[in-house]
Amino acid sequence: MINTSTTDSKTSLNRKTPPTIIIIFGASGDLTARKLAPAIFNLSKDNLLPKKCFLIGYGRSAISDESFKNEIKEALDAHSRRKIEASTWNTLEKNLIFHAGAYDDLNSFLTLEKKISKIEKQIDCKAQCLFYVSTPPGVFMPILENLGESGLAKRHRGTETASKVIIEKPFGRNLQSAHELNQVINKRFDESQVFRIDHYLGKETVQSLLVQRFANSIFEPVWNRNYVSSVQITVSEDIGVGNRGGYYDKSGALRDMIQNHVMQLLALTAMEPPSSLDPESIRDEKVKALKALKPLAIEGESPDVVRASYAAGLVGGLPTKAYLDEEGIPQDSGTETYAAMRLYLDNWRWKGVPFYLRSGKRLAMKASEIVVQFTRPPAILFGQDSRLKVSPNLLVIRIQPNEGVTLYLNSKTPGLETKLQPIKLAFGYETTFGSDTPEAYERLILDALNGDGTLFIRGDEAEMSWGLLSPVLDYWDSQGRQGLESYASGTWGPLAADKLLLGSGHEWITGRSYD
Ligand code: BG6
Repeated sequence: MINTSTTDSKTSLNRKTPPTIIIIFGASGDLTARKLAPAIFNLSKDNLLPKKCFLIGYGRSAISDESFKNEIKEALDAHSRRKIEASTWNTLEKNLIFHAGAYDDLNSFLTLEKKISKIEKQIDCKAQCLFYVSTPPGVFMPILENLGESGLAKRHRGTETASKVIIEKPFGRNLQSAHELNQVINKRFDESQVFRIDHYLGKETVQSLLVQRFANSIFEPVWNRNYVSSVQITVSEDIGVGNRGGYYDKSGALRDMIQNHVMQLLALTAMEPPSSLDPESIRDEKVKALKALKPLAIEGESPDVVRASYAAGLVGGLPTKAYLDEEGIPQDSGTETYAAMRLYLDNWRWKGVPFYLRSGKRLAMKASEIVVQFTRPPAILFGQDSRLKVSPNLLVIRIQPNEGVTLYLNSKTPGLETKLQPIKLAFGYETTFGSDTPEAYERLILDALNGDGTLFIRGDEAEMSWGLLSPVLDYWDSQGRQGLESYASGTWGPLAADKLLLGSGHEWITGRSYD
């Protein structure tokens, strides 16, 4: 639930979560160690988990409960945002269990069912199961089918302890596979039990985007084609693919970042005000915004999309490898590590306003920003004389790092001569609220435990976003490396991405010193 107020009786924080068994598929994976285990223990530290809470790690290689506990302990030491002291560790430690099994073997799910029933006997009450599917996407289907076939999906259905399932990204590889996944989900679960995760929606700044837009009266009147000349969304990373080459090469920037994280940021920026804060109202409005997106021009003179892959370069002063030299990447790989696009929404609010999106690895810095650029005032009083240059007003919403919001306005520089200069009105989360912010996964796991789907993606949303991007992926697949641009690591991407903005009077803003 969007944390609009600390006293809101509807927030997850105030709900009483029933006894719970969290089952993680892919328990020995990287995500469990880096994000899921730390999130669960931080929730426990804040007393946000039910008193009766168990964690079952499900994985293919058999390990003892003891080894599983050691793995989790190491993960917490390495990745938790706060120290997990003995009292928190001891509360959950005794409830950590490992279950070995294949993902496509119904028997392993039936024995899991027995373990769950045994726990219920032990605690002498019903418990809700939260299944977290955090495996490679290739086994999502058999896991979902077996949850259905074994009866685990419909345990206690219709009660407050009904089973729930969180499904990690990527949700499908294209429109068709996302549709097939949705079909299996619909066959096996009610939509109210399903939580398609996009961890960007759990980030504090993303949650507060709706508050900024709809709890302040100064933005809404100008949030449209009459006053906004463009919107830019940049999600850049300075890291390369690291040891994830095997996954990444089958994925690429469009599938890994744009289809989910970036499109969600776009939907939240562009959507109409929802009629209430309930999950369906918000998701309905996001779907409407995505529906309004015009199909992309993929080829021809001036395509709306650009893709590129990183060459060697310098990042943070250190030499880095080209994508093709990374571990596990085939020499003829046509996978993009960078994608940029120009989009238009065909609706009343946004007609004619370009939305520029870009995301890539090995760029100059890690930065996720939404930049709303406003139209210039008429050049009557200022703007005709070069000393009186009027810069466009910008609202920069910084999602990470240095979370905050900055508004750029024109001001007169002090002195006898009249000169204009853009100045910043800046708000920083850390300066105002301190740095003790929960991680996205904490918020999202807590919301799923409480059945609140506001910050999760609905099936039709996922399909809508794939519907726009699948033709691009098909075209790129058909082209291999042809048309794949290159950029030096540590830069802001290929020159071709600047062409998307050519002649529009806009330029990419994130990463540029604007003062
Ligand atoms: C993940 C992608 O979803 O998001 C990764 O698979 C990417 O490739 C990561 O590095 C970025 O997340 P964050 O929270 O660090 O911006």
